[in-house]
Amino acid sequence: MRPAKRFAVASTLAALAATSCATPSVHEHAAATDTRVAVRFPDELRRHTLANMRDHLATLQQIEQALGRGEFDRAAEISEHRLGLSSLELHGAHDVAQYMPPAMQDIGTGMHKAASRFSIAATNAGASGDVRGAIEALSAVTAQCVACHSAYRLE
Ligand code: HEC
Repeated sequence: MRPAKRFAVASTLAALAATSCATPSVHEHAAATDTRVAVRFPDELRRHTLANMRDHLATLQQIEQALGRGEFDRAAEISEHRLGLSSLELHGAHDVAQYMPPAMQDIGTGMHKAASRFSIAATNAGASGDVRGAIEALSAVTAQCVACHSAYRLE
């Protein structure tokens, strides 16, 4: 990058930083008003769901580790069995879905499908040696985590 251009980028970033610091109320607002829809699960199912969630996060970590080590088949297998369509029974998805608003169910289904698609992309990465498609497919999985977490909370 030419120095003049680099300077332009740096000053734009500085301007953005200044703007966001000048408006602290935006941050306070985000913290103070929780616009997520509260969903009520029976106690037992709530505990079970949160334990599943912690497992989802651990699964993402293991997938990232496998990708980083070039263990594409392992990444594919972890994703399919712990998050993908093959994991529905493991997670008791059927029991839990009946307590979810339909749009929340759709995001859950979207996550399982995205994880199965990631498995295919990871297998392809093993064949091609190009990891980019797999990383993008993994971001489609985390996009579903993000979508659900920004819209819903448990009561
Ligand atoms: C269909 C909705 C949905 C999807 C998809 C989803 N989550 Fe969650 N998750 C929730 C809800 C609801 C909570 C409870 C949040 C609250 O009450 O504040 C939660 C909580 C969590 C927690 C906190 C657990 C605890 O013990 O408090 C973690 C960690 C988490 N999710 C990880 C993930 C990850 C990682 C993914 C994606 C691979 C994911 N979740 C996908 C709905 C979802």
